[in-house]
Amino acid sequence: MIKFVTSNEHKYRELNSIFSAHDIEIEWVKMKYEEIQADTTEEISLDSCRKLQSVIEGAFFMEDTGLYISPLKGFPGPYSSYVNSTIGNKGILSLLGVDRRAHFQTVISLSYGRKVYQFSSTLRGTISTEERGENGFGFDPVFIPEGEGFTLAEMDPERKNTISHRRKAAEKLIDFIKTRNELNNE
Ligand code: IMP
Repeated sequence: MIKFVTSNEHKYRELNSIFSAHDIEIEWVKMKYEEIQADTTEEISLDSCRKLQSVIEGAFFMEDTGLYISPLKGFPGPYSSYVNSTIGNKGILSLLGVDRRAHFQTVISLSYGRKVYQFSSTLRGTISTEERGENGFGFDPVFIPEGEGFTLAEMDPERKNTISHRRKAAEKLIDFIKTRNELNNE
């Protein structure tokens, strides 16, 4: 059993389904935490994780995701949450021309034995020309993964969960957990 700290139910559901396929139980610690503004998702996540160490007992992890749009020089990146809640997907669409390349980056920070371990992964793709699909959350309606014809929001949740940035970072964490008996059996 390992704690996952997030206020986002979508993230919890996605990760819970990945972990249960490996027979690892996660306990949802449903709480919002402070996020500093910094240049990289790794720095933001590391800072939040360190702050939570004084509040949460035992091993726990959290995750932060950013959308990096190539023709916008990586914007919104670490500002993704702010941009999503201000200009939103329509605002993103209005900023783009022909070059629509983008990627998601997920960083998972694990607090274990007072240390912080980070696991990160990306999903490359393009920004669609209009919002499409009802599934998922955040930028899913405007993100088409490389090699796919649909936005993440048009896919069924299992498909997103097979190919996503979050999935690939979670698999790295799961590999780590499997090498640590204490985490496996906690
Ligand atoms: P955070 O990781 O919660 O800070 O997410 C930053 C922003 O990216 C928020 O607006 C989320 O809604 C969005 N976001 C996070 N993960 C995903 C995802 O898997 N798909 C689409 N948008 C996401």
